[in-house]
Amino acid sequence: MTDKNDRTLTSSGFYVSQEAPIHAENPIATPSSPAPDILRCAYMELVVTDLAASREFYVDVLGLYVTAEDDESVYLRSTEEFIHHNLVLRKGTVAAVAAFSYRVRTPEDLDRAVAFYTELGCEVRREPGGFTQGIGDSVRVVDPLGFPYEFFHDVQHVERLSWRYDLHTPGELVRLDHFNQVTPDVPRAVKFMQDLGFRVTEDIQDDAGTVYAAWMRRKPTVHDTAMTGGDGPRMHHVAFSTHEKHNILAICDKLGALRRSDCIERGPGRHGVSNAFYLYLRDPDGHRVEIYTQDYYTGDPDNPVVTWDVHDNQRRDWWGNPVVPSWYTEASLVLDLDGDPQPVVARTDDSEMEVTVGADGFSYTRKDDDGGVQGFKLGATL
Ligand SMILES: [Fe+2]
Repeated sequence: MTDKNDRTLTSSGFYVSQEAPIHAENPIATPSSPAPDILRCAYMELVVTDLAASREFYVDVLGLYVTAEDDESVYLRSTEEFIHHNLVLRKGTVAAVAAFSYRVRTPEDLDRAVAFYTELGCEVRREPGGFTQGIGDSVRVVDPLGFPYEFFHDVQHVERLSWRYDLHTPGELVRLDHFNQVTPDVPRAVKFMQDLGFRVTEDIQDDAGTVYAAWMRRKPTVHDTAMTGGDGPRMHHVAFSTHEKHNILAICDKLGALRRSDCIERGPGRHGVSNAFYLYLRDPDGHRVEIYTQDYYTGDPDNPVVTWDVHDNQRRDWWGNPVVPSWYTEASLVLDLDGDPQPVVARTDDSEMEVTVGADGFSYTRKDDDGGVQGFKLGATL
């Protein structure tokens, strides 16, 4: 439950606390079966409508490495990856996400995943030979929030290309960093993900306790996934890391040189949340890809949870730049285990876009200013 007495205002303008100050009014029951021990987000399976166009975007423009490919699929990985792939592009008729895939610590964690989701009444399928090339025994589920998840441990190792500087580009994508999911009820999603073993690192709220977004991690970074409030289940973005922020600027320059600046949806900029440098791109199907770098270590058990005020105009961009409306409203469909799109449920809680960039959606730069020109400004330049 949000308790402002337990939060400390920092000199940077956000609050810190020890527990996620988020209370679910409509929680999913906690299973008695233990959750699988998740290591990290490992790959996304993305359905694309024009495989050649998507391959050109992810390989020729962004520089991901092809581990394998055939007429139906392309398996891609980032520079530092030693498992078979971080992204599968699969040809299909509806652009959507087929799986958010997580690696688990041991083969026995797949048994735990089966028991955990079966107890929740979810659809669960297990494929001893894997659902995709390069991956062994795997479990796929549709979780109670409507998202298609995969869990695996067994995977084919491939060469880590960190030392192959002869292959690297100025905008080298070195790691898969995180997923971002759109869901109508963020507190319900957070509580379920906590049951799955995730810990909240940051969130955005208002004074009434409405939660607009939350960031959650397994690996010791700011997140493996974030829950963004909106009509869902949908996929907001998949994010790859560069080593440095100049690598992100190089990607912008390359897109300009290619006359592909229309791929750039938002940024480059510095996030308030996560403190990372960012750029949002849209692929040929409109799937959103974030390029991300330089967040911070979160692995200690008493890592402070950061809470941002939704009216702080530096929360999503530390420089106060407005967020374009498409970033709030557009996202990719997700599929069920038969490959059909999941129905999208409307958010009923307040919309972050409406409360910050709507007709009277004033945000502040300095919270205690009196509303004069210097302290407040419209959240968008619509
Ligand atoms: Fe992100």
